[in-house]
Amino acid sequence: MPVDLILHNIKICTRGELVEAGLAIDEGKIFKIAKETSLPQASAKLNLKGQIILPGLIDVHVHLRDQQLAYKEDFFTGTSAAAAGGVTLAIDMPNNKPITTDSKSLKERMSLAETRAVVNVAFYSAFPENLSEVPSIVEEGAVAFKLFLSQKIGGLDIRDDDALSAAFDKVAGMDVLVAVHAEDMETLENVREGLQRAGRKDLEAYLKVHSPAAEAKAIHRVIRLMKKSGVHVHFCHISSSSGLKAFLKAKKLGLPVTCEVTPHHLLLSSKDLKHYNTLALTDPPIRTENDMKALWNALKHGLIDAVASDHAPHAVEEKEAKAVWDVKTGIPGLETTLPLMLTQVNEGRLRIPELARVTSERPAEIFNIKNRGSLSEGNSADLIVVDLNREYKIDSSKFHSKAKFSPFDGWKVKGKPTKTFVNGQLVMDEGEIVAKPGTGQIIRWEG
Ligand code: DOR
Ligand code: ZN
Ligand code: ZN
Repeated sequence: MPVDLILHNIKICTRGELVEAGLAIDEGKIFKIAKETSLPQASAKLNLKGQIILPGLIDVHVHLRDQQLAYKEDFFTGTSAAAAGGVTLAIDMPNNKPITTDSKSLKERMSLAETRAVVNVAFYSAFPENLSEVPSIVEEGAVAFKLFLSQKIGGLDIRDDDALSAAFDKVAGMDVLVAVHAEDMETLENVREGLQRAGRKDLEAYLKVHSPAAEAKAIHRVIRLMKKSGVHVHFCHISSSSGLKAFLKAKKLGLPVTCEVTPHHLLLSSKDLKHYNTLALTDPPIRTENDMKALWNALKHGLIDAVASDHAPHAVEEKEAKAVWDVKTGIPGLETTLPLMLTQVNEGRLRIPELARVTSERPAEIFNIKNRGSLSEGNSADLIVVDLNREYKIDSSKFHSKAKFSPFDGWKVKGKPTKTFVNGQLVMDEGEIVAKPGTGQIIRWEG
């Protein structure tokens, strides 16, 4: 029997290097990676003219919205944006309307995604008020819990150390990890109140509130509280040099901690923020050039586990307001992450295997996603074709996302995903979505 498809005339990123080979796909899986002469007969063959094959991105930080926030994004538009950006698995955040915080709300999101998604989707849950509900959430298939420390989302009293410790104990026992948005709420509130009383409503004031100190304080607190339970903590979007220092200290001590950085924290400085105004406002905010340097340095030395988009779509009207406090924070990133990072590869700041490690391999390891995240025989055929020489300008008006804005608008990039395969099926071809809603699978926690 011939296999379903052979991709040939390609370079494949596998086992930490780029090799010239062909790749055979059969029944949704990678059947064989070998020199072309050793590949089996196939029903179809695709000559990719020297392009590169990478594992599809596993984006561990995505807000897909839908339900009552569908005006910002829905599972179809969000996963179409993912497919266009080379992301084959998006892990969805729980700060939705309604919040994903119990097995019922999780189940509801899963059944909607099942009919609408064009790439694979996995889910975070927020902590329920009653921790005895945690096992049912895990059984339903949440791959991780998300803990926001900047504001209360879900049932946990985030001011209470004991409540946090109890939550950590609970999930540690189930071998599930906790992802943390690390900003200390009390610090934020105290500084914000003072500035608001003084009538401040400008960008500078926002940056003063969401300071590196607030980030570092929350990281220190979590590290202090996690030690007893041994829970795996994943720090979301580390943005500052002092936050990074706090994280690296714990990593050096051998604690089970991992972290992600975003392209906007790597590539935009607070100088740019003034230029882009509130459009680029995101939380944590973009920082100074020194912070960017620290993040790059850690990334280069293999100390950062993942690059994630923190795709946070909003209606464009929500990105402007008289007072900075009323602006919705967050920027869409699914369609810019890979081209921006490939551009960095072209500029010599990162090698392709290093990129695949932080966008696919480590994310799969951290979130215990089986048989995905790397190109090896038997794994699911979640893979992308990349043209490293394709140059174009980022144009947010062409986004598949409903959020048609980006601080990277007009940036010249070099490197583009030209095809995205999910579970062996072509879902994106030259920017066009060629799969039906519901092609993506729900990826559940497997223990
Ligand atoms: O900027 C942000 N946007 N930070 C968050 O923590 C939430 C996110 C969102 O959901 O829009
Ligand atoms: Zn966050
Ligand atoms: Zn986020």
